[in-house]
Amino acid sequence: MSDLTAIRRDGEPRANATRDALHRLVPRGHKTYTPTQLVVRRATGCRLEAVDGARLLDFSSGVLVANLGHAHPEFEARYAELTQGAPRNCYNAVSPLEPEAAERLIASLDRPQLERVMWADSGSAGIIKAIWAAQHARPDKRIIIATRAGFHGKKGLAGDVTGETSPNPNVRFISFPTTEVDDISLLPDAESRASELAAPYIAELDALTAEHGNDLLTLVTEPYLGAAGSFHPPKWYLRLLSDWCAENGVVFVLDEVQSCHGRTGEMYAYERYGIEPDIVVLGKGLGNGAPIAATVGRAELLDSMEYGEASDTYSGNPHGCAAVTAALDVYESQPIVANCRAMSQRMQEGLSSLRDEFACVANVRGEGLVWGVEMAAVGDASADEVATAAVLACYHEGVHLLGPLAKKVLRVSPPLVVTADEVDEGIDGMRRALRTIA
Ligand SMILES: Cc1ncc(COP(=O)(O)O)c(C=O)c1O
Repeated sequence: MSDLTAIRRDGEPRANATRDALHRLVPRGHKTYTPTQLVVRRATGCRLEAVDGARLLDFSSGVLVANLGHAHPEFEARYAELTQGAPRNCYNAVSPLEPEAAERLIASLDRPQLERVMWADSGSAGIIKAIWAAQHARPDKRIIIATRAGFHGKKGLAGDVTGETSPNPNVRFISFPTTEVDDISLLPDAESRASELAAPYIAELDALTAEHGNDLLTLVTEPYLGAAGSFHPPKWYLRLLSDWCAENGVVFVLDEVQSCHGRTGEMYAYERYGIEPDIVVLGKGLGNGAPIAATVGRAELLDSMEYGEASDTYSGNPHGCAAVTAALDVYESQPIVANCRAMSQRMQEGLSSLRDEFACVANVRGEGLVWGVEMAAVGDASADEVATAAVLACYHEGVHLLGPLAKKVLRVSPPLVVTADEVDEGIDGMRRALRTIA
């Protein structure tokens, strides 16, 4: 996007005033580009009301953040109850809300090795703390392995393990299934053919062992490649990495910043994939919109840092911790994850029907309620242009999407409380939108 003017849309005077003010005051590098730049006045459940009156269905949960939807009554009531009278900060004092949230989170994770919690104020900070913990616990090891084309954030070490190349000389990338993943996971015998299919990935790991041996420190990966365009690997792939880390004494860090809290149809994706991380990093849905993340892992690793070595101003603040506890209360009292599973199938059927109907839809990939709709070039328009046009067309049909991933993939990820009628309504809106493009 080279245009230096503010985003404006016809017939939206209030939104345009906000967009103009934003453009004047907040550098655009601070925002992620969305062609719609929806300006929301009020949000309830999966419904968004724009400042100029339009009503949209939230098919994105922000960036997979508002898993419980907006203004969830039980969440908001519990959050208000917990935060009433709570201090605004806990840098040089502590609040009972912090160990309470940690205890609840550890119980929810339900793995013996996930026994300590370090809070963070963003997903990337949580990833950084995970790598710091590994580095402090194993000071004699240097090499950080990351799966190629992953996204772990933009800051510091999190940025170093993101993408395909790194400015950090200690980072090595290994392949993550992408091009072949659909075919593999659709094969009825995919799991039984795992060793054959896994051979090239094993060869990459063997090459790392041969080259770096005892110098291998940690491996950072995510359950599925989100930002790269929604590639969901076969289970054997993540199991291979998990087992290899255990056999080679490599700290296995699983980035569940995006997948946590039900998104894949299990509370945590490691349950779905049958893997055992040494450290898991949680964010986004963890606080249902509150800016809090967590690095949870083995005491042996997380206890390796001294006072102050992983602290910062906001991490573990009482309001963030209250959001964690309030969210867990809702997950434990209501069938949020079961609803995700139930709606997943409906969503898959709906999106697949769009793929069958429209030439501009090249592929549909996903699990739980995190789906990617890959767009194809149409005539002279590139897939990138088609995807941007589709996001805008969906907006005009009342469906709010996340702007294209990897330039050509529409992200469909409604709050996990979405109803069957809302799934159908969203698919119908997308169908009307795609008719204007195909
Ligand atoms: C898988 C994953 N890890 C890490 C991050 C970084 O989180 P944050 O933007 O909160 O720093 C993201 C954000 O999109 C993510 O999707």
